[in-house]
Amino acid sequence: MQTFVTRQEIIEWRQQLRGDQKQIGFVPTMGALHQGHLALIKRACSENAAVVVSIFVNPKQFNQNADLQAYPRMLEADLALLKGLENLVIFAPNEQEMYPKDLPFSPMPLGRIGQLLEGAHRPGHFEGVVHVVHHLFALVQPKKAYFGQKDFQQLAIIRLLNTFYGFGIDIIGCETVREADGLAMSSRNLRLNAQERQNALAISQALHFVQNYAGKSTVEQIKKDACAIIKQAGLTIEYLEIVDPYTLENCIEWQKEQVCCVAAICGEVRLIDNMLCESVL
Ligand code: PAF
Repeated sequence: MQTFVTRQEIIEWRQQLRGDQKQIGFVPTMGALHQGHLALIKRACSENAAVVVSIFVNPKQFNQNADLQAYPRMLEADLALLKGLENLVIFAPNEQEMYPKDLPFSPMPLGRIGQLLEGAHRPGHFEGVVHVVHHLFALVQPKKAYFGQKDFQQLAIIRLLNTFYGFGIDIIGCETVREADGLAMSSRNLRLNAQERQNALAISQALHFVQNYAGKSTVEQIKKDACAIIKQAGLTIEYLEIVDPYTLENCIEWQKEQVCCVAAICGEVRLIDNMLCESVL
């Protein structure tokens, strides 16, 4: 495993690899790595000759400074977790290296999909994600890039970005990895105390409820009942929506497939999660 901190190191490494005709896989992260990241990285390692994992807490995608400050940073532990994986390169740049002043960038229109759900509640968030992922894709030039489905809307936006800028990368969405009790793995879980960690379970419980009852009562009623599960655990709901998996527009009636997406505040930590729900029509 090699660790690089400059763009130049990645460029030189890539040029050498291209000479050997080796295929690059890419897993972008903000560090504080957990088993969910590890699943993406292991899959990338099994499907590519070499894999780049970027670790960069991207200030541009945080719409609140307090959230940026509180985001866990643990590079040493991250490197220790990845030790032993072969053909892996870690790219851990600082902000100047990630965003050199002279590096051109023209933002893409996010369209309707960027205005819904997270887009409505975290102004500027997806613009920041697109900016950093654009620079990372352009630098790493992978054949395949791996993203978790926990960030369902982000995955949709990354697919748009890939097409808009013409990167031609295979974007691979990987299933959300959960703790044994159902909580979706997230770097933010580290900020929950024991009681909050317990309360946070209400999110996956509510999503399972929607999965089980999809099609068995009205969409409105199921949403109301799912919200009650989360509120009862003391969390504050930012949104709980049942949406079309492709457009992310709210479903008024049950379809064959829909995704229930939730953002809720647990203690001081904002958590998101989602589950695909099928209904028998
Ligand atoms: O999903 C994340 O961790 C981040 O949004 C990403 C894709 C690494 C961009 O900073």
